[in-house]
Amino acid sequence: MVGTILLFFLSMIMIGPVVNKYYHYFPRPKFMQTAVVTGANRGLGLEWVEQLLSQGYKVYAGYRSDKGELANMDNDNLVVIQLDVKSNESVKQFAGKIGENIDLLINNAGVGDGRWQNLNEIDDEQSLDVIDINALGPVRVVQALYQNMNHDSLTKVAMISSLMGSIDDCQSGRSYAYRASKTALNMFTVAMKNEALKDNISFAIVHPGWVRTGMGGSNAPLEMKESVAGMMEVLQTQTLENTGRFVQYDGKILPW
Ligand SMILES: NC(=O)c1ccc[n+]([C@@H]2O[C@H](COP(=O)([O-])OP(=O)(O)OC[C@H]3O[C@@H](n4cnc5c(N)ncnc54)[C@H](OP(=O)(O)O)[C@@H]3O)[C@@H](O)[C@H]2O)c1
Repeated sequence: MVGTILLFFLSMIMIGPVVNKYYHYFPRPKFMQTAVVTGANRGLGLEWVEQLLSQGYKVYAGYRSDKGELANMDNDNLVVIQLDVKSNESVKQFAGKIGENIDLLINNAGVGDGRWQNLNEIDDEQSLDVIDINALGPVRVVQALYQNMNHDSLTKVAMISSLMGSIDDCQSGRSYAYRASKTALNMFTVAMKNEALKDNISFAIVHPGWVRTGMGGSNAPLEMKESVAGMMEVLQTQTLENTGRFVQYDGKILPW
């Protein structure tokens, strides 16, 4: 009996990844968690993919137009799919290709706004574009993947925000559109958290710290590895009870 059970689990471990690569509908062994990462071709998104794979997750990675490093990663647990979070059509097509429950969604894709422009340089079209991608993009992804997240076990959603979206913390000003986009993302998330409670979905609004990436620049003090490892730890403590918290990579709770 014990031998049969052992044999069953061994065969699931060996066959599962191979079949998963080709047939996304194959029922996975229960102990394998599935994650989705947006904006996964570079920067923090790519680091998320690498760390999640190394922890044994199956990962669906979204890229906007250039696969970047994702193209060179040979891993049976990685599925790479085009995703522009600004486009409803693209988000729906992306979601349509994920035929299984997901346990973790990392809403990471985002853009900057040129940072330190003056008040008279605020460009309405550019600002709407930044808000569309940073605030509405993650909402579109949550809507499209809701059915995949609504299941018996807990699903964790990380909305990658920024301390720059904190109204309390906004001393230096400027960076108008980026700040406003992240503040809006925070409010969308807090406003949706109650509806999602009954469906076992918990949201963390996470600030990665100031990190050396294309967006963060070379003067940033934090390395991607440390930031993402910290955010992973934060997510381990994510529950239905603390849904909607605004927290940074090292677990510190941030002011709104
Ligand atoms: N780095 C920091 O210090 C810092 C601090 C606070 C918050 N954050 C947040 O952390 C997240 C990741 O930032 P990062 O530093 O890794 O930035 P990054 O290096 O500039 O990478 C941004 C990623 O988002 C993707 N993206 C942009 N627009 C997209 C769209 N419409 N659809 C799909 N993907 C899109 C980019 O894809 P392409 O290659 O196609 O452009 C890229 O993969 C962002 O939400 C950012 O606001 C970063």
